[in-house]
Amino acid sequence: MNILRTMQTERLILRPFREDDLEEFYAYASDPEVGPKAGWKPHDSRNESWEVLQRFIREREVWALVEKDTGRLIGSIGLHQDTKRSCENIKMLGYVIGRPWWGKGYATEAAKAVLQYGFRHMRLRMVTIYHYPFNERSRRVIEKCGFSREGILRMGSQLWNGVIYDDVCYSMTREEYFLQEGAKF
Ligand SMILES: CC(C)(COP(=O)(O)OP(=O)(O)OC[C@H]1O[C@@H](n2cnc3c(N)ncnc32)[C@H](O)[C@@H]1OP(=O)(O)O)[C@@H](O)C(=O)NCCC(=O)NCCS
Repeated sequence: MNILRTMQTERLILRPFREDDLEEFYAYASDPEVGPKAGWKPHDSRNESWEVLQRFIREREVWALVEKDTGRLIGSIGLHQDTKRSCENIKMLGYVIGRPWWGKGYATEAAKAVLQYGFRHMRLRMVTIYHYPFNERSRRVIEKCGFSREGILRMGSQLWNGVIYDDVCYSMTREEYFLQEGAKF
């Protein structure tokens, strides 16, 4: 089953998380510049990362991103329940990349592979994604993947520390995905 869940892009391997990912996972999960931009608290300890890692290992649609050239764990990507929508067969895309690897096109490369998995293998009806208004990097990734901008959900998210942000909302339907890919759906 794990073999089926492993994917490759030109420069990345997307595979299930493993317990021996802890140290490299903690390295980026404890960075104050990473988690808060995706809505979560930077990890304070390896124990905290261990708990999250166990959850990632159990979840089917969460992948570790491994750089082929170095074998390093550089981030994660997943298809999650979209708590803002009640329709079946819709998933929300989320990703983080460790700071040393920002700006190399890795998030976009991984997101395109996961979109393919979501629409072709899981037969999703729609994939959604959100970013906070200040997150220009994520905005670019979303645009490069071809999502349609829906608008702004004002005060859409309240973070662990009480801070409230608007959500900039995007989606891609199954039809839009296959039209963009130039393939049949
Ligand atoms: C958002 C994130 C995943 C992007 O990963 P990445 O691998 O650097 O993304 P890519 O390299 O594929 O694309 C980044 C784009 O942002 C652009 N960019 C970089 N710095 C920028 C800035 N300060 N302002 C605007 N755009 C910027 C890059 O030029 C690139 O766009 P381009 O290809 O048009 O030049 C990464 O920065 C990250 O993990 N951030 C913290 C967590 C997070 O924000 N997760 C997403 C939550 S919605």
